[in-house]
Amino acid sequence: MKVIAFTSRKGGSGKSTLAAHLSVFADAPDAPAVLIDCDPQGSLALWHELRQAETPVLVKCEARQLGETVEAARADGVKWVLIDTPPHNTADIAAAMRVADLAVIPFRPAVFDIAAVAATLEMARTLGKPVLPVINSAPPRRGVHPSHVVTEAREALFAMNATPWAGQVTTRAAYAHALASGQAVGEFEPGSAAAAEMIELWQETRRALGLKEGKRR
Ligand SMILES: Nc1ncnc2c1ncn2[C@@H]1O[C@H](COP(=O)(O)OP(=O)(O)O)[C@@H](O)[C@H]1O
Ligand SMILES: [Mg+2]
Repeated sequence: MKVIAFTSRKGGSGKSTLAAHLSVFADAPDAPAVLIDCDPQGSLALWHELRQAETPVLVKCEARQLGETVEAARADGVKWVLIDTPPHNTADIAAAMRVADLAVIPFRPAVFDIAAVAATLEMARTLGKPVLPVINSAPPRRGVHPSHVVTEAREALFAMNATPWAGQVTTRAAYAHALASGQAVGEFEPGSAAAAEMIELWQETRRALGLKEGKRR
């Protein structure tokens, strides 16, 4: 079983969005995924209520219950646990990182957001956790070239001795629309550019966990 925490000290960076979309790519009959909504705002719980499919399973819990919740998932034969966290409660973010194999850190390519990544990276370093920083809500590429704000954001991360994902999650209405209908982009618009980005991000997440590429579903 692998545990992935979506963490950032900044609200609105895309934690809940990426956790929801990736959980659907992760979940398979032979590799069940569980989403843990550890944010009192309950964004994922709301998404799950709108969702018609039963899977992935969603569990709401407080940060202090994370250890037992993760162990219960392990005992149930769960393969992937994805934890969504609140932005401002440092202790809760640390609790999620502690039980995680990888901290995915989404951030927008903008100055305040990049500054906030430093604090999240520092926390992961202190706890000895591998990280995958992901640029989210990026302007579209021009051909193969990323926007200069994306290039600058990536350079800022290198300057913090961190290696962000080489890809990007572009600002796309499909991400929000899919969630509003209880779906992930792969279900809402199969074959779309948004679905393709999430497949790439899921493959990168697997690599960051030291796993081989999965089937491209
Ligand atoms: N790549 C994206 N494209 C379009 N909208 C996005 C994207 N990422 C996030 N959003 C929107 O931005 C808002 C904040 O995202 P959310 O995932 O809730 O952030 P967080 O959980 O980090 O607070 C939401 O309304 C969400 O729909
Ligand atoms: Mg959220």
